[in-house]
Amino acid sequence: MKQIYFVSFGCQMNVLDAELVLGDFQRSGYRRTDEMRHADFVLINTCSIREHAEDKVWSLLGRARQLKEAKPHIKLGVMGCMAQRVKDDIIRRAPHVDLVLGTSNFRSAVQDLQDIDAGGGRILRTEKRPDPEFLPDADRNVGARPDRFRAYVTIMRGCNHACTYCIVPHTRGPEISRPLDEIMVETRALVADGVREITFLGQNINTYGQDLHPQRKHTGEICTLLEEAAKIDRLDRIRFLTSNPFDMTEGMMRRFGSIPKVMPWLHIPAQSGSDAVLQRMQRTYSVAQYHEVVGWARKHIPGVEITCDFIVGFSGETEEDFEATKRLVREVGFMQTYVFKYSLRPKTLSARRLPDDVPEDVKSRRNVELLAVQDAMAVERNKRLIGKRVEILIEGISKSDDSRVTGRDHSNRLVHCPGDSSMAGLMAVVEIEEAGAHSFIGRRVALEDEPGAWTYRSTSFGDAPAPTAR
Ligand code: 5AD
Ligand code: SF4
Repeated sequence: MKQIYFVSFGCQMNVLDAELVLGDFQRSGYRRTDEMRHADFVLINTCSIREHAEDKVWSLLGRARQLKEAKPHIKLGVMGCMAQRVKDDIIRRAPHVDLVLGTSNFRSAVQDLQDIDAGGGRILRTEKRPDPEFLPDADRNVGARPDRFRAYVTIMRGCNHACTYCIVPHTRGPEISRPLDEIMVETRALVADGVREITFLGQNINTYGQDLHPQRKHTGEICTLLEEAAKIDRLDRIRFLTSNPFDMTEGMMRRFGSIPKVMPWLHIPAQSGSDAVLQRMQRTYSVAQYHEVVGWARKHIPGVEITCDFIVGFSGETEEDFEATKRLVREVGFMQTYVFKYSLRPKTLSARRLPDDVPEDVKSRRNVELLAVQDAMAVERNKRLIGKRVEILIEGISKSDDSRVTGRDHSNRLVHCPGDSSMAGLMAVVEIEEAGAHSFIGRRVALEDEPGAWTYRSTSFGDAPAPTAR
């Protein structure tokens, strides 16, 4: 049996792309190995969002080169955003790479490898439009997913925005939505295979479908998609990301809030709490508008929790700008924030127009400070949940304590409670006893399949406890 050594970096989109490709290899008889030296094929799924992510790939390529010198039969492939962005550099600096697959046509990997093995020579595919000749997402090896009860489904690829710092429009091209019926076929297949929670993925899901129906202006097609998915029997929970502050309307929030299977959790990146910085980032909203969007979410989605991304040390960011970002974190009360130090990406608008003028040590300090503000705020905020009951979908044994299981509640909070691996995939009601900045510990009050426990299935959220302490 042939073996594949596969490494993946980057966002949820990459996690799913990795699963799709690995599923194809599994289907054609490959087994995954954790040791590069045992592999027949080494494949790296890359990310370009920050320089650091690319550095890791170059060093991995160095290791693979040494291995290939010792075992020339090994084939080496690079896929994803970095393969798209620096294909020429890869060809030049890493002549030992046999296969370069960009962000669109990576599902050809199995066939390409066969062609290379047959002596066809190196293959390079970096067109940004999907080639209809290759496998569509819906033709997916559903059994290959790492999590039995939760899965990702891509609803759109690419991005039409022009945030000045961002490489994504460059690596993933313009927005392309997948047709609704195709997405539903894929979702139904996953649910038929035991998935209870689906997370729909897109760079900017607010505008899902606009390219499919250019004649309609602002359609809220994402809401139609969620309503359709909610009709699928045995699918219990629906999530989606990313919801950006732009292209969002109050009407869309109202529709999100009216679909019981849509979970009260939104990822709404703010990036900065300073209007001046937002303008330089070309984010097209102000801090006041960000607050307005959060207000709509809280008004229409009971118990909603919001997570956020911030970039610190963007071009020209002053101490006052940074203070404004800290203020936004305190004022909104995010469940979690992800903080990134600005990393200049070649050929982005900010690389061309704006100096990378915040010193590295200042970026690092602001990163640490912002996370400290978030954690202090979250600890206080999370205490309100003590004594309340939440419902979790049990994922499996907790990584830090094998007498406990871990799951996420409706609002995507991480909750641990006593249990064992046989409970994976079941819902449980947990009474929260301890609250930290990032997770909760509680007492199990009921388990879905327990005799005498509440009979819970699918849409019967009426039986479940109120999801939050708001
Ligand atoms: N530097 C630092 N962080 C970035 N992000 C995107 N581009 C950059 C960059 N050049 C962050 C944003 C985005 C998240 C996925 O990565 O916060 O929301
Ligand atoms: Fe990048 Fe902005 Fe598009 Fe997000 S919305 S992928 S940050 S350009």
